[in-house]
Amino acid sequence: MLGGDTGRAGRAGASILKYSETMCGIVGYVGHREAVPILLEGLARLEYRGYDSAGVAVQNGRGIVTRKLAGRIPALTELLARDPVHGRCGVAHTRWATHGAATERNAHPHTDCEGTLALVHNGIIENADLLRATLTRAGHEFATDTDTETLAHLIEDAPGASLEERVTAALGHVEGTYGLAVICAAEPHKVVVARRGSPVLLGIGDGEYFVASDASALLGRTRSVVYLADGDLAVLTPDGYRVLDRDARLQVRPVDALDGDFETLALGPYPHFMLKEICEQPETVRNTLRGRLLPAEGTARLGGLNLSPGQCARLRRIVILGCGTSWHAGLVGRHLLEELAGIPVDVEYASEYRYRRQLRLPGTLTVAISQSGETADTLEAVRAARAAGSLVIGIVNVVGSSIAREADGGIYLHAGPEIGVASTKAFTSQIVALVMLGLHLGRRRELLPLEAGRALVAELTRLPELVARTLELDPQVQALAPRYAEARNALYLGRGVNFPVALEGALKLKEISYIHAEGYPAAEMKHGPIALIDEDMPVVVIAPQDAVYTKVISNMQEVKARGGRIIAITSEGNGDLARLADHQLAVPPCSPFVSPVLTVVPLQLLAYHIAVLRGCDVDRPRNLAKSVTVE
Ligand code: F6R
Repeated sequence: MLGGDTGRAGRAGASILKYSETMCGIVGYVGHREAVPILLEGLARLEYRGYDSAGVAVQNGRGIVTRKLAGRIPALTELLARDPVHGRCGVAHTRWATHGAATERNAHPHTDCEGTLALVHNGIIENADLLRATLTRAGHEFATDTDTETLAHLIEDAPGASLEERVTAALGHVEGTYGLAVICAAEPHKVVVARRGSPVLLGIGDGEYFVASDASALLGRTRSVVYLADGDLAVLTPDGYRVLDRDARLQVRPVDALDGDFETLALGPYPHFMLKEICEQPETVRNTLRGRLLPAEGTARLGGLNLSPGQCARLRRIVILGCGTSWHAGLVGRHLLEELAGIPVDVEYASEYRYRRQLRLPGTLTVAISQSGETADTLEAVRAARAAGSLVIGIVNVVGSSIAREADGGIYLHAGPEIGVASTKAFTSQIVALVMLGLHLGRRRELLPLEAGRALVAELTRLPELVARTLELDPQVQALAPRYAEARNALYLGRGVNFPVALEGALKLKEISYIHAEGYPAAEMKHGPIALIDEDMPVVVIAPQDAVYTKVISNMQEVKARGGRIIAITSEGNGDLARLADHQLAVPPCSPFVSPVLTVVPLQLLAYHIAVLRGCDVDRPRNLAKSVTVE
């Protein structure tokens, strides 16, 4: 929950557009019951957020015992059934890998050198490299690649008579964000919790206390919760809890009633998942980029690609496969990869590709794009490409999904679970992943000069902020939506890298509002669709400042001359288009390589608001499924 200390979804003053949350999940327990079933149940309730590894640590009276693995909660449950751990105090975590691969070793909880304490952490320790170097020099041995492990070693060395004093002292050295829960061997009935920038709440029971990063983890356990404020540290024992603020002063935080069902809690302050996911995009774009940009080298580190420098150099052709929105991202990818890496790219509907003869062309790289990683046509197309001897990489959101497993390598989006059926945040993250792929290949193939690489890295670095600024258009979009809610048809026009955005804008509108909409390359309009234009035909024109801007303006003039109503998606500083456009939505100026990430946002919002006005079931549009696992 950025943008304030409200700590609670839906509280007065919480700006919807600033609300964001972490993907990993924390659960903790101290009380009179066995901790493990409570911890596992809490983790299962957080599964919807997505994760790739999970673990628990329990104080069993003699010390701390940890069980963790790369995989799902059922596998962790089986592990604990085979090798049980008993105790009444523990912490647990679901992790979505950022620093370090999704392995058992890197899964939380993490421990200090002697295993005398265990902790789980959400957030990012920004000075982890420095801390790790200092701690290593002081004799600490690191067992994982994570930033979190530095916290365990810091607390191990920190001065203080109690765990809370040591945690406080350790956090004094930390830059970054955390939601944190720690247990230690020396104080067997205590959980210490801290929060800075990453949500944590306490659940209050009868002689038992819970910790969670998300209220949904506590459903069915308690109805009384305390949302920690930023900078708070809390100490929980079976006898009660204390909250200290950032100046170590005792605080009484309000006890809130936990009401609502799972869906209400997962939604936070949003009326629909689609809006939530649109608004999450600054954070999801950041998560896709996280740890992957190398500013000095002007490139991207994509560890999962599994492409050797030799393979990169020998690439002669790229085939991108996908369906629906993912196919649109592929069309954007064609521009990016041809421009940045100088490799010819074909973009194919997976459903068409799989039934054609696959020509064996040495040096072909196939890129399968899929949010779910389970789309049947894309999966079969991946198999067909592999059978034809192509290397296949996946650009996939869902970790461990079929396409992710069957590809030779790939890039995870780390955009978190996408629950709304209409894809939004996955699309922007797919484009970000494709920009990084272009950057990586372009630099490896020595086609992209260092300075150009550095400039693009700088542009990607500021992209989350630009997306946040673009979301500020929401009130304007909401205000114009009623003018178009009764439309029967709509046309979306764009050129170059923004032609696929026109397709995507049209798809968003038709799938959730049931208004017929078509996307066209702007110049194609005069070869047919222009016949449809009259005052009842809204025309959305994507016209950011780029090399084809003046051409798009000419296309707008053609629409205007026929009485069409124009909504222009333009760039700040483009000048006033009022003589042509009925409405202007200006996104921040940016490099053409990333512009689709911004220009699509007002189109997502427009489709959303129109669908709401038409009373449509935005998150579950008729006839559509989130994951199309049939042909
Ligand atoms: C549109 C949408 C679909 C999916 C398509 C592919 O909003 O969500 O068009 O993009 O079904 O799904 P994935 O990306 O999961 O392969």
